[in-house]
Amino acid sequence: MSHSPTPHQPAALQWIACPSDKLHSDTWLAQARASGFHVVLTPWQQGANAVAAIAQWANRVRRQRLVAALTVPVDAIAALPLVELDACGPVLLVVTPVHTTDLVRWSDVRARLARTRCAKLRWTALGVPLCHLGDWRPDVALVPPRPRSQPPECATCGLRAQCAGPLSGQIVAPLPEPVSNQFDLTDGALNDALLTLDSTPPRHFTLQQPMSPLVAEALARGQVYLDQSDKARLDDFAADLALLLPDGGDRWHAADHQPFAAEEALLLGHLRTLSGVVVDVGAGPIRYVQELAAAQAAGTLRYVAVEPELAALERTVAVLPEALSLQGTGEHLPLVSQSADAVLMLRSFNHLRDVPQALQEVARVLKPGGVFLACDNVAFGLCRSPEQLARAHAIPVAETPFEHYRNADAPDAAAALLAAVPNGFALHTVQSVGLGTSNQWFLRATRL
Ligand SMILES: C[S@@+](CC[C@H](N)C(=O)[O-])C[C@H]1O[C@@H](n2cnc3c(N)ncnc32)[C@H](O)[C@@H]1O
Repeated sequence: MSHSPTPHQPAALQWIACPSDKLHSDTWLAQARASGFHVVLTPWQQGANAVAAIAQWANRVRRQRLVAALTVPVDAIAALPLVELDACGPVLLVVTPVHTTDLVRWSDVRARLARTRCAKLRWTALGVPLCHLGDWRPDVALVPPRPRSQPPECATCGLRAQCAGPLSGQIVAPLPEPVSNQFDLTDGALNDALLTLDSTPPRHFTLQQPMSPLVAEALARGQVYLDQSDKARLDDFAADLALLLPDGGDRWHAADHQPFAAEEALLLGHLRTLSGVVVDVGAGPIRYVQELAAAQAAGTLRYVAVEPELAALERTVAVLPEALSLQGTGEHLPLVSQSADAVLMLRSFNHLRDVPQALQEVARVLKPGGVFLACDNVAFGLCRSPEQLARAHAIPVAETPFEHYRNADAPDAAAALLAAVPNGFALHTVQSVGLGTSNQWFLRATRL
C-alpha cells in the first residue's frame, strides 16, 4: 500500500558502485543512502572467505536500508555458490557481460537464471543488451546514475527502441512509473480546522487546488475518506477509513455506514467456497486467514502463499505455518502448470509490474475450470490531520520498494485478462467502483 505521493519517487532502483576502500565504511553508506541511491554494488570476489566477507558487507549495507548487490560477470555464473550466497541474503545478483560473451553462451546463462529459485537471491542485469537477455526477465530494473548513448553497432537492431545497447549501463525496459492510490485532499492547516470542529457532522474543508486528474477522478467516483486511524500507513481500509459524503460547497459529512462492508462480504462469500490448491499471489500478511485456515485444517484446501517481500512472507508463515509459503512474483509464479484450483490476487493486481505476463502466469498454473479472484482499490482522496500527514510523509520511499503501478478498476482488469489470454477465461463478476460503493473492486473469472 502506498502513502501520499512524493516528487522524489524513483521509476526504478538507482545504484551506486562501492569502491573497495569504502566497503566497510558506515559513513560512506549513509551518504550513499542520503544521496537517493537504493542499491550498492560490489564486485563478486572468488576465494575461500568470499561468502563470509559478503555476508558481513551485506549486513552493513542493509543496516543503512540499502539493497546489497554483487556484480557477477556472466562467465562466472556457472561457478557461483548460489546456496551459500542465499544464506547471506537478501542479495541482488547483477549479471554483467564480458566482451567475449556471445549469444550461444547467453542461452546457457539464461537457462541457469530461469532454473534458479533461491529464496533470498534476486537477479538483474547491467549493460546487457536485450538481444542477449532474450526472454529472461530480471527481477528488478536498475537505472544507471549516468546513462550513456547507444553504440553504433546497434543502429540497425529492431530492439533498439527499448534497449540502451551493450555496455551502456542501462538494462531492459525500466519499471512502469509508480503511482500512489491515496491523495491528500487538504493541507495540514485546513485539516487542522477540520479536526478542531466537534466530531458531529457536517465537517468543512476546502479541496487543495490545482487538482490532479487522478484526484478529480476519485472525487467523481465519490471516493473521499476521513482517516480515522493512528497509523502512518493505512493497512485496513474498513477499520481505518470513514467515507465522506458531500453536502455542497465546503461541507461534507461522514457516512453512517461502513463503506467496505458490502465489498468485503462479496469477497468473503467467494473465498469461503474455495477448495483444493489455492494460490494467493501477493499474499502479504494473509488478511483472510480465518476464511482459509478452517478449510486448510479440515483438509479441503491447500493454501499456497506467493509473495516477493521476505518480511511479508515471514508473517504469512507465522499466521498459517501449515501453508506453503514461496517467495516469488505474479510475473514468475514458482508453481508447475495446471496445479492450482484457484488463484487469488487480493490487492496485489495494481502492484504488478507486468500485468499481461502475470495474467498469463495465472492462466498457466490454473487447472481448467479453476477460479481467478481479484480485488483492488482505485485512487481515493484522504483527509488527514497535520499529525497524520506528518507520520505518512516521514516514511522513507526506500522502505516501500514495491509500489502501485496503476489504479486499475475491475473493467480494466477484465480487459487485461481477456487481452493477455484470448479465449482463456470466462468472466462471471466484474464489479467496479462508483458512487455509493467503497473504493474496492472485485473480479471473478474461471479458466476455460
Ligand atoms: C496491498 S498488499 C495486499 C496483501 C494481501 N493480499 C491483502 O489483501 O491484504 C500488496 C501485496 O502485493 C505484493 N506484491 C508487490 N509486487 C508484486 C508482484 N509483482 N507480484 C506479486 N505480489 C506483489 C506486495 O509485496 C504486497 O504484499
